[in-house]
Amino acid sequence: MGKPRLFVTRRLPGPCFKRMLEEFNADVWPEWRHPPHEVLVEKAPHYDAMVSLLTDRIDCEVIVAGARGRLRIISQYAVGYDNIDVDCATRHGIYVTNTPDVLTEATAELTWALILAAARHLVKADRYVRSGEWYRSGTGWHPELFLGMELRGKTLGIIGFGRIGRAVARIGAKGFGMKVLYYSRRRAPREVEQELNARYVSLEELLRESDIVSLHVPLTPETRGMIGERELRMMKPTAILVNTARGAVVDPDALVKALREGWIAAAGLDVFHVEPLPPEHPLTKLDNVVLAPHIGSATREAREAMTCAVLENLLAFKRGEVPPNLVNREVVEKRRPGFEG
Ligand code: NAP
Ligand code: GLV
Ligand code: GLV
Repeated sequence: MGKPRLFVTRRLPGPCFKRMLEEFNADVWPEWRHPPHEVLVEKAPHYDAMVSLLTDRIDCEVIVAGARGRLRIISQYAVGYDNIDVDCATRHGIYVTNTPDVLTEATAELTWALILAAARHLVKADRYVRSGEWYRSGTGWHPELFLGMELRGKTLGIIGFGRIGRAVARIGAKGFGMKVLYYSRRRAPREVEQELNARYVSLEELLRESDIVSLHVPLTPETRGMIGERELRMMKPTAILVNTARGAVVDPDALVKALREGWIAAAGLDVFHVEPLPPEHPLTKLDNVVLAPHIGSATREAREAMTCAVLENLLAFKRGEVPPNLVNREVVEKRRPGFEG
């Protein structure tokens, strides 16, 4: 077999991208916008491998079309893969891989940027300076200007204690001397709890006790809408909710109500139930929310390393090996890795 055919749904940053184009017979979607769904369905059967982004809806229609043709592997350029129908891929013998670990610190750091921005009203303060309001106020310093919340000694609640959740906890415990509570599917090993000064609690206790609540679960049928009106009402009126996981983990209407009516003090959001968020969305009208356009992993370092992780997964598969970041382990029983046969 010659070079396997690869469809990449966007140009990717870093030197590994050049190598990808050398190792595969690749076509790259040239636009800034994602390829429309019908393009994915049309392309899928004609390629051995596909590199997808979280904005590409890889549903069963795309997968079945691909499986009828020559598609063998979908290598996602992200750690989250809720845009891919993984069960469908497994049934059709298609491998799915992702890019964990290399973006953990970048996403944890952005989480802290949102926490600090929300706790200290940083975005509003920036606007105050630029707009001339500070100048017009006639005073350079005032004892009650932009009073925020200090983090030292406060309680940080982590929902989803995986790679990113633990990285956020580590910065909170070691950097800000915070007490850490966590809720997750299962309890972490004792050493991890001790190192991070973290206590395993119920979701309800976490919501009631935490000053900062930060979401780090994947989007699954169980986590969709996990934070709704009931949960938001349990939080402290002084608390800040941060979401760098997936927008649909939070009920957006309940969140708007909570922020408007002061059930919670503020929110920092990098992810939304619809992306891009329309500018007329009520969240954009609220003063107590800091918004970012899904840039959790957006450091040069992480994004270049993600390209290399995608490449490593594809190259391992090409060599007939199980890719290092295989998401659907059960697929191995269906079909051996490799583009031959
Ligand atoms: P991870 O290591 O798999 O961590 C997820 C954690 O959530 C795991 O501890 C998992 O438990 C737990 N969990 C899963 N389902 C749960 C449930 N129903 N209830 C409670 N806990 C549950 O993943 P990660 O690398 O930290 O990434 C987490 C998510 O962050 C990704 O899935 C992605 O959606 C999001 N993300 C966003 C950005 C961004 O740009 N904003 C960047 C990177 C990632 P188990 O260990 O039992 O599975
Ligand atoms: C980004 O949101 C990711 O899941 O990698
Ligand atoms: C909030 O998280 C939203 O989805 O709008």
